[in-house]
Amino acid sequence: MGSARELKKIPVPFRPRLGENGIRTALAENFMDKFVIRGGNPLVGTIRVSGAKNAALPAMAAAILTEEPVILENIPDVRDIRTERTLLVSMGAEVELGYGRAHHRTTLCCRNLANPEAAYELVKTMRASTLVLGPLVARMGRARVSQPGGCAIGARPIDLHIKGLEQLGATITQDHGYIEASAERLRGGHIIFDKITVTGTEDLMMAATLAEGETVMENCALEPEVSDLAVLLNKMGARIEGAGTSTIRIQGVSKLHGARHRIIPDRIEAGTFVIAGALCGGDLTVSNCDPGHLGALLKKLEECGVQFKTSENSVRVTGGHALAAADVSTEEYPGFPTDMQAQYMALATQASGVSAITENIFENRFMHAQELVRMGANIMVEGSRAVVHGPAQLSGAAVQCSDLRASASLVIAALVAEGETILDRVYHIDRGYERIEEKLRSVGAQIRRMGEILPKKAAAPVGVA
Ligand code: EPU
Repeated sequence: MGSARELKKIPVPFRPRLGENGIRTALAENFMDKFVIRGGNPLVGTIRVSGAKNAALPAMAAAILTEEPVILENIPDVRDIRTERTLLVSMGAEVELGYGRAHHRTTLCCRNLANPEAAYELVKTMRASTLVLGPLVARMGRARVSQPGGCAIGARPIDLHIKGLEQLGATITQDHGYIEASAERLRGGHIIFDKITVTGTEDLMMAATLAEGETVMENCALEPEVSDLAVLLNKMGARIEGAGTSTIRIQGVSKLHGARHRIIPDRIEAGTFVIAGALCGGDLTVSNCDPGHLGALLKKLEECGVQFKTSENSVRVTGGHALAAADVSTEEYPGFPTDMQAQYMALATQASGVSAITENIFENRFMHAQELVRMGANIMVEGSRAVVHGPAQLSGAAVQCSDLRASASLVIAALVAEGETILDRVYHIDRGYERIEEKLRSVGAQIRRMGEILPKKAAAPVGVA
């Protein structure tokens, strides 16, 4: 038996605590960074899609281009958005958040930007922080932005942002892990992207709005998020034509003004729920989305035998039908999105036959494959190709999230697996999916955040058809 002194050292059983004012302590956060999912329930009802994270991030950066307030609606309440808010505030921006029914509204006013810098601490947690580079140099004449460094899904350099800014007349130096850009006033230029880049197109489009003269950008990204940003910038007084095509023309203006804009729905969140609905059985309506942005995904799902119907702003999917394997190659928009590759792999594990999945955008975006294998999937990865043999009976296991979309894939797999899955490091999913566990629970899924206290009686599914 130990002495009284030794006994005192025995740790008390761990209980997650809420700190003062209900703020979670780091310990409780860590404990709550897990989902517990029990598979097998059909999904029945309606899930409402949030605003697109990848449209909201550049839209927030666009506020830097004017002294006047920019009001953004349909901003998703996700971790990456909070990070960008922190970044803008650190530069001197004033931010006002809507509350109650307007809680997805954010008003940004960048009148006084005393500190045009994106520090490493923030950039390392979110690469999209580099979106402030172009707007800062265009409006403030200087910017200091940390180099983002490596990323879980690939190298993801920003050389094309830098090269483009140089073509617009900025002087760029790189030192101590930071990029410093300066220009008295940017001037229009001719930019031909060596490779299609989404945030690169957005960054330079923002920079060119305040440049002197005309900028022509070729080989631009066609993603709906680029078009949405152009709509916002034009509302602010910019003169942009051709966004959504591969050539964008921008006539520079001397000043932009405030505007109000509603962010487009998140096509990747929508696609994630459509796949979940297809696999789980039941009758799921994914509402508040734009099926026009889901073309390549829906075409592929049709090929696999998924039964769905689209309306102007929703997709209704009835699950539980036999699925057939189909090959997929990720491409830039309007091709099959790399951001849906992981979720599609979860579907492929349930389809009869062999699906070859080729990832063409990022070099290391198959980390979910090994976790799916741990759940019973039959997947072989070779370089940029994964070959999935299905269908496989998945069984619940302890698995780890490695990035945002990989996490979504594992949630889907867990929803169809037999038994219980413990999904660790779900902070990855919180970066880009707004309260995914609550949304899924509202349509019948058994999913909870560890440490979360649920009401005794589960709420009735929302909007059951
Ligand atoms: N690339 C370069 N040099 C550059 C920029 C890009 O070589 O200067 C390469 C990248 O390494 C990659 C390819 O070009 O191989 C495409 O990268 P892109 O720049 O288009 O990616 P991104 O703009 O950094 C956005 C989304 C990603 C999405 C990709 C591809 C945002 C904030 N992020 O990233 O979203 O996967 O486009 O569609 O818009 C996600 O939401 O999970 C996510 C990763």
